[in-house]
Amino acid sequence: MTVHFIGAGPGAADLITLRGRDLIASCPVCLYAGSLVPEEILSHCPEGARIVNTAPMSLDEIIDEIAAAHAQGHDIARLHSGDLSVWSAMGEQLRRLRALDIPYAVTPGVPSFAAASAALGAELTLPGVAQSLILTRTSGRASTMPDGETLANFGRTGATLAVHLSVHVLERVVEDLTPHYGAHCPVAIVWRASWPDQKIIKATLGTIIDATQGERGRTALIMVGHAIGAEEFDESCLYAGDYDRRYRPVGTEPRFPEGTE
Ligand SMILES: C[S@@+](CC[C@H](N)C(=O)[O-])C[C@H]1O[C@@H](n2cnc3c(N)ncnc32)[C@H](O)[C@@H]1O
Repeated sequence: MTVHFIGAGPGAADLITLRGRDLIASCPVCLYAGSLVPEEILSHCPEGARIVNTAPMSLDEIIDEIAAAHAQGHDIARLHSGDLSVWSAMGEQLRRLRALDIPYAVTPGVPSFAAASAALGAELTLPGVAQSLILTRTSGRASTMPDGETLANFGRTGATLAVHLSVHVLERVVEDLTPHYGAHCPVAIVWRASWPDQKIIKATLGTIIDATQGERGRTALIMVGHAIGAEEFDESCLYAGDYDRRYRPVGTEPRFPEGTE
């Protein structure tokens, strides 16, 4: 048997990979992180599946549940919101499974920053404006930030920021970032991207506090950077008519003449 860690996406039930959906359908046991995984996704579970919401459980209890299913020879679908590579608590579960010699596999999902950018209709890496995206958070009750991973340090890069788990400390985010991006820098807060009650507020670092009127509902991303909503940016060379490239040789002496590998 295998424990299938599956990224369940940002909220909309159809923002899951086909592989993820099919794995859920093939597993007689499903453990899901109920705080953010939409219940609709559980409709892919086979009839009679054991479905467990792990939101109120401790790590020990979750591992006990997995070990019991393993002992019975059952495959398990383990669902976490968004993608598993960020803030999923997958790492600690995988470490326990390695210690217990229980096999696992990981199927990626659509991360919330991608759903938020889609909701904004924004490319976060615009030529000449920003070419990097930093996924970060501020410290919370359960997790402190390592030294050096401060908003001020990230702000010095000028990269686009997707600040997770932090809308409740928006004032501090604004205070830390304004010296680096300036008060006119665009900010967008996207609550529950891709859920039916998705909400977006667009403003600048100087105006976002007033614009939110105290709205601090937790499942939100703070997107900051000059690429958000920018109209002044370069076009990428890749699609320029005179740019010679492997897939579109141009000129009398192309770098990659047709027929070359
Ligand atoms: C525990 S983290 C999970 C992140 C997730 N693994 C991912 O790939 O995005 C939860 C935080 O992600 C962000 N988040 C998750 N889903 C979201 C959504 N649909 N819209 C906006 N932010 C979301 C919020 O900042 C939330 O506090």
